Amino acid sequence: MNRTIFGAAEGAQEVSLFTLKNRNGMEITMSDLGAVLTRVIVPDQEGHPRDVVLGYESPEEYRKNTNTYFGSTVGRNGNRLEGAAVTLEGKVYHMTPNEGENNLHSGPDGYQIRMWEVKETAEDRNEVTFVLESPDGDQGFPGNLKLEVTYALTDENEIRITYKGVSDAETVFNPTNHSYFNLGGHDSGTILNHVLTLMADSYTPVRDSASIPTGEKADVTGTPMDFRQGKAIGLDIDADFQQLQYTGGYDHNFVINQNSVSDDTTTGLYRAAVVVCSESGITMEVDTDRPGVQLYAGNFLKEEPGKGGVKYGKRCGFCLETQYFPNAANEPAFASPIIKANEPCVTETVYRFKSQGLKQGGEGR
Ligand code: BGC
Repeated sequence: MNRTIFGAAEGAQEVSLFTLKNRNGMEITMSDLGAVLTRVIVPDQEGHPRDVVLGYESPEEYRKNTNTYFGSTVGRNGNRLEGAAVTLEGKVYHMTPNEGENNLHSGPDGYQIRMWEVKETAEDRNEVTFVLESPDGDQGFPGNLKLEVTYALTDENEIRITYKGVSDAETVFNPTNHSYFNLGGHDSGTILNHVLTLMADSYTPVRDSASIPTGEKADVTGTPMDFRQGKAIGLDIDADFQQLQYTGGYDHNFVINQNSVSDDTTTGLYRAAVVVCSESGITMEVDTDRPGVQLYAGNFLKEEPGKGGVKYGKRCGFCLETQYFPNAANEPAFASPIIKANEPCVTETVYRFKSQGLKQGGEGR
């Protein structure tokens, strides 16, 4: 692991970057500001390195990262809570509304703009663990929550993100990673030609443009939401389909098929998605133990200034945010993201990369 100084964000202590490399030419970089993933290098089919995640140039920009959520570790709760409230053990707790009357990604003081501690890592482990103590009442949620996020880079070309949470009172625990991927490179324009396969027979339709689900699971068959056979993200994104009009393009939670077993049989994860960029020859697989995945096609990006002076326009990156379904804490029909007091919860998501240019069993790190 290599630690470098990123800079000092306003009002914050020194911010660091942590880089991991594997044997095949992959590199990933994370920061202790927000436990954000800032950089993912994957060699393309010709062996040229491409940075496949969108990001910012400076810690100052990450300190203000409450809109795009580039690379973010989102918590305590990813996605929306209707009425910015949740009822736990008969008591109503209020969050800050930051999207109309609702709460998105836990509000204006998200975990992605906090300073995290870095845990000592064993020499032989190619990983970094960030620790955050989130006090009782933080963002409106009850319980002192201790959260650890570990990013590991394996020689199987996987980024394994593991979240461990334990709280001293019942609370919501639904973290996710909000990276925007562009498998042609973060500076290569839109992701509309990427071919996406989603292992999802259904999705959770939203009531209206506020994007709170109705509570139903709707069949994707015969709709623009059907990605089971693989299709370009751009093919139907502007179709005359009410769900897509509500959200201005794909911004929906898909229900991962529970029989969708990952090739990676060691951990019992489900395969949620496969994305292929034929121009770069880079493929990404997404495996998780969570029931849902939010496909967000970067519809709201507007010339966002990013790394290396690049301006990220509409649909220049896509997110596959593994999580419980939106508003699940308030929706009895959905699996619950509520954890009990003093019962640790561990959850894992894997982003695995494939490319002809990835050396197999190379020279070492
Ligand atoms: C949401 C989008 C939102 C984006 C950035 C996604 O998880 O579903 O509606 O624009 O995050 O905030």
